[in-house]
Amino acid sequence: MEKLVQLTRIAFSSTFSFYVKAHSFHWNVEGRDFYEYHKLFEEIYEEVYGSIDAFAENIRKLDAYMPTSYHTLSMLTRIEDEDRVPNKDQMVQELLMDSEKILIILKKNYDAAEAAGEHGLSNFLAERMDAHKKHAWFLRASIKEQQ
Ligand SMILES: [Fe+2]
Repeated sequence: MEKLVQLTRIAFSSTFSFYVKAHSFHWNVEGRDFYEYHKLFEEIYEEVYGSIDAFAENIRKLDAYMPTSYHTLSMLTRIEDEDRVPNKDQMVQELLMDSEKILIILKKNYDAAEAAGEHGLSNFLAERMDAHKKHAWFLRASIKEQQ
């Protein structure tokens, strides 16, 4: 169970950092297609933020505590901070790579939840994988060169 708790905390923290990055890209994006990307990042950060409370409550349902500080979250997350303001294609590329990373983290967490018979949690994680798959699709499609 301790391993499942740790994997879920890692998945939560990675999701939270991804949310922070998508929201900061929403604020900082610039360029000719500004509004399109501003809206795309908004759609993503709003969806991900909408999962945060339920994610944390799933950790409490395992009878474990939530990380209580930025410091702990930053130790647990697998998503790298972005301190610069990249250009919009780099922003999309970075969020796409992070989405793919989160999908791997969620799958690992899902398998551990299934193995522990925590089907409520695995069900939640399956929904999160589906949501991040959709974000990855939108991001990938936004930077694909047309024939
Ligand atoms: Fe906004």
